[in-house]
Amino acid sequence: MRIIKIFDTTLRDGEQSPGASMNVDEKIQVAKQLVKLGVDIIEAGFPFASPGDFDAVKRIANEVKGAIIAGLARAKEDDIKSAYEALKDAPMKRIHTFHSTSDIHLKYQFRVSREEALKRSVEMVKLARSLVEDVEFSPMDATRTEIPYLLDVVEAVIEAGASTVNIPDTVGYTTPTEFGNMIKAIKEKIGDKAVISVHCHNDLGLAVANSLAAIINGAGQVECTINGIGERAGNCSMEEIVMNLKTRKDFYNADTNINTREIIRTSRLITRITGMAVQPNKAIVGANAFAHESGIHQDGLLKEKMTYEIMRPEDIGLQKTELVLGKHSGRHAFKDRLQELGYELSAEEIDTAFKKFKHLADQKKDIFNEDLEALVSEEVSKIPEIYSLVDLSISSGVSVKPTAALKLKVNNDVVEKMEHGDGPVDAVYKAIASITKTKSNLQKFEVKSVTGGMDALGEVTVTIEEDGKAVRGQGADTDIIVAAAKAYINALNKLAVRKR
Ligand code: KIV
Ligand code: ZN
Repeated sequence: MRIIKIFDTTLRDGEQSPGASMNVDEKIQVAKQLVKLGVDIIEAGFPFASPGDFDAVKRIANEVKGAIIAGLARAKEDDIKSAYEALKDAPMKRIHTFHSTSDIHLKYQFRVSREEALKRSVEMVKLARSLVEDVEFSPMDATRTEIPYLLDVVEAVIEAGASTVNIPDTVGYTTPTEFGNMIKAIKEKIGDKAVISVHCHNDLGLAVANSLAAIINGAGQVECTINGIGERAGNCSMEEIVMNLKTRKDFYNADTNINTREIIRTSRLITRITGMAVQPNKAIVGANAFAHESGIHQDGLLKEKMTYEIMRPEDIGLQKTELVLGKHSGRHAFKDRLQELGYELSAEEIDTAFKKFKHLADQKKDIFNEDLEALVSEEVSKIPEIYSLVDLSISSGVSVKPTAALKLKVNNDVVEKMEHGDGPVDAVYKAIASITKTKSNLQKFEVKSVTGGMDALGEVTVTIEEDGKAVRGQGADTDIIVAAAKAYINALNKLAVRKR
């Protein structure tokens, strides 16, 4: 059985989704989870793009072991050197360099001839190969490139030292049959001289189908992202490609190294960090993906699961929501459960999270894994707390003007303020803005319940913007107004860090 390599680009192309930017600590957390998931290659970022990207790639290269760490670089000397500087300490590293090859790009965007593009590509692959062993080259906009020229470029970069050639459908334009034929032609030309990779965008909703067609025709690596996030309509979704291969091994005769039981956890982590929710009917990781509503289906399932279930929920790590802890659970059990969930917190972070847990346990009888994850996510993102909530009381109702009385700790001082608003959240946000003397605009406000039940923890995600900088904040509490206050304060703390 062929093993298809999974090249995850959530931290690079995924991060190019509008609003999906992540801070360095969040990227490290994602990269560590990707290792647990079993991806072969992690594209950690584009080091030359910004100092923040450079630092993130460097830290991932230094701290994350267990996968090849790749850095993106245009076919330019400075880009490639910067990628090398960021990657050099990684035990397994790859420079991924690219140059457009379609006439549309060459003529209108880069204003270079085909010959010049080919020459630069070859020179830059050689430069990359002089720095690292493992070099990948992408002819950007390959699917709108004339095949004979594409074949020339592919052959030349392999000759120059590229061991992987990645064929991007940059604008999501191709179709499964057309793309399959293109990959077949490349495979016939290069044989086993290099691995053929594919990188499909989802503009026409065909990224997964196109990638599967490529696998059938000889591709040995797929570039993809968790939850399919990415530029515009996104990239090929990792969970979909992986579960297609696993479920239809009989057809594709191929599999991956992915530990599929880590899929749901990884998907939820990305949702939490990027604030980009997954649509409920999304294949594999959507909330309804394993929910059977119709009577006929439920009847069949009760008799024999195979009647309507082609994958088992356990295979992607979905378990019956498990009761974990309650009011009487001790620190030890709490710490063990966090470890099982994959959180590595310092003693100090555990202390803070444990206090929050005890507080929650007073309000909520049963605490589930999802509650714990919501509870510790602030500790994990390690945002210094310039502002923190001390107390909040609200009065509102049909005939009462919504009023918030807020106590906020600002550095080491506790400041109090009372404000009215159009609703309770408005009143709280006015009080916070007044104490912190900030003038941010609220762009997005989302509320969701972490688990079911009347006492469920509510999670609020907000996006605020100030001086062109947008940040997301999250807060969870059994009281939704308190969760909203925490989310806003979390966003302001992030904004303060960014301003510094
Ligand atoms: O979509 C694309 O063409 C890319 C390349 C940089 C591989 O992301
Ligand atoms: Zn892309």
